Amino acid sequence: MKKGDLYFPGKEFKKRAWLKDKSIYKKAEKNPVKFWEELAKELKWSKKWTEVFSHKPPYFEWFKNGKINITENALDENLKKRGEKPALIWEPELTEEKAKILTYKELSKEVNKFANALKKLGVKKGNRVGIYLPMIPEVIIAMLACARIGAVHTLVFSAFSPAALKIRLQDTEAKILITADGYYRRGKVINLKENADAGIEETKVEKVIVVKRAKNEIFWEERRDIWWDEVIENQPDFCQPEIMDSEDLLFILYTSGSTGKPKGCEHTCGGYAVQAKFTGKWIFDWKEDDIFWSMADIGWITGHTYNCYSPLLNGVTFLIFEGAPDWPTPHRWAEIIEKYGVTVFYTAPTAIRMFEKYNGKISESYKFETLRLLGSVGEPFDEAAWQWYFEKIGKKRCPIVDTWWQTETGGILITSLPGIGPFKPSFTGLAFPGVKVDILDDRGKSVRAGKEGNLVLLPPFAPGLFRGIYKNPQKYLETYWTQYGEKIYFTSDAALHDKNGLIRIVGRVDDVIKVAGHRITTGELESAISLHEDITECAVIGKKDEIKGEVPVAFIVSKKTKKPVEQIKKEVIEEIRKEIGPIALPKEVYLVEDLPKTRSGKIMRRILKRLFTGEDLGDLSTLSNPQSVEEVKKVIGL
Ligand code: WT7
Repeated sequence: MKKGDLYFPGKEFKKRAWLKDKSIYKKAEKNPVKFWEELAKELKWSKKWTEVFSHKPPYFEWFKNGKINITENALDENLKKRGEKPALIWEPELTEEKAKILTYKELSKEVNKFANALKKLGVKKGNRVGIYLPMIPEVIIAMLACARIGAVHTLVFSAFSPAALKIRLQDTEAKILITADGYYRRGKVINLKENADAGIEETKVEKVIVVKRAKNEIFWEERRDIWWDEVIENQPDFCQPEIMDSEDLLFILYTSGSTGKPKGCEHTCGGYAVQAKFTGKWIFDWKEDDIFWSMADIGWITGHTYNCYSPLLNGVTFLIFEGAPDWPTPHRWAEIIEKYGVTVFYTAPTAIRMFEKYNGKISESYKFETLRLLGSVGEPFDEAAWQWYFEKIGKKRCPIVDTWWQTETGGILITSLPGIGPFKPSFTGLAFPGVKVDILDDRGKSVRAGKEGNLVLLPPFAPGLFRGIYKNPQKYLETYWTQYGEKIYFTSDAALHDKNGLIRIVGRVDDVIKVAGHRITTGELESAISLHEDITECAVIGKKDEIKGEVPVAFIVSKKTKKPVEQIKKEVIEEIRKEIGPIALPKEVYLVEDLPKTRSGKIMRRILKRLFTGEDLGDLSTLSNPQSVEEVKKVIGL
């Protein structure tokens, strides 16, 4: 498979692949709008569009005036051909508990029943519905039921805190929240309902639908709470799909925003469906007999697109797992692959590095004979982890697709196609056919090979790219359409390309840090920390981490506190747990006298960052308090 540092798909793989000829790129490039239109025709629409792509910068539309319901494509269309085929396999965390398998017919029935239940509760097209559920089949059913009736789902990652839930519910003004009593995490029951109860305070939520999952004891508000099983009781198992405009909202998914307020990314029905379908089909090369497992939680965009919509749009069997991949033993993930005969596996470099660290040997005792393709997403994929994944998991047989995309893009935009290649460690590949990208310098000129610049998307973008930030057009304009004008989408990622045009993602150029593939802004962490009354100033930076890629490190200034240092550090960590959740906890908290600042009072995070990388600190004489740097150095032990 190897050729220089480039790898190519094996003969067997190529033979069966959907795409094996690179002429697809040329064909798409000639007329990307027409290219996407041809793909769109393969979905079922109740009315055809009148215009394929229309552009009023910074806004654009796809398949204008087309009418579609994504669930008709994801469910009903499959019933004819593969009603008895498993759609969804659910693996619970507890090994003694039985897995659940839902065929297309069964899944469809559950979705229709729940859709009718939502209707009965008064949910109408366009209403927002909050979903705060763990990885259980009901989460998929709930999303699809919303889509069935044209309600806009907003998922909130189940490990997010009540405060994080609240801010999202307030922004969307959801009147219904779907949650569960609890779920299992590393053998312990997490009382999710308790978080939900706290999260809905000061929101417009009127009804809470509760899935009975862990059977833990929960608080119950008679007038407000209602069991899932009761709402679906006696509901008919068919619900007429709501006819949606291509540009109607399908869902809102929040992503970390700099000022502490998350941004609600708006995704629409038609374009998203087309991109979700074909990126999955071609990048994961799905065939009728594949079993796909993506490890991402449904609360992230990867979960939305590739643990729900995309496999269903392609009639594929996919697996969702409730627990942690390293519990109860470090090789749980490997057992799941073997147990179900997973053929295509999708995860993040952090997980791969963790597997390597904790079970380097174990992976050798698994043959992984069913695997034929591996994927990666969410953060830069370093060469060492790539090689380990390739040799120990893929046994040098499976192509690796490293996929670049964002919550905003809705689907994968840059990758190598598995039947074509080439695969190059630490490079993600080429723009997906029909997608135009470039790497620009600060003046807007394309950079030459090997030189870093800003990754941008050019019109016609891709049909699944988000359409706006919910209730915040200003932020949409500022964040994405200002650096290079209103016709060029700014990704906030630095990238470079090699002489073959293969793209390497270098990392974020804004204040986003990718912790274990999760997106957190330092601003969001800083606002959480600032809520602590003893903290007068703080700064958060990302520091390189062997496993997680990056981890947050917090510097705090507390002029008045009388508490012991360890106490205040603990409280800061608690503050973040309370405001955001456990994924964002800083690895270290340093209490310092002062933070390096410019004369105008701006905190120089760059200097703090460089203290860890060992890079040159630059000219410190421009600081208003250069002596602070020495103090910080001492505190961090330099
Ligand atoms: C950011 C988006 C989209 C799925 C999960 C992340 C980084 C994403 C890669 C990759 C290097 C990557 C970028 C991007 N990123 N994929 N293959 N190689 N970096 O979605 O949470 O919205 O984060 O993740 O920095 O901008 P997200």
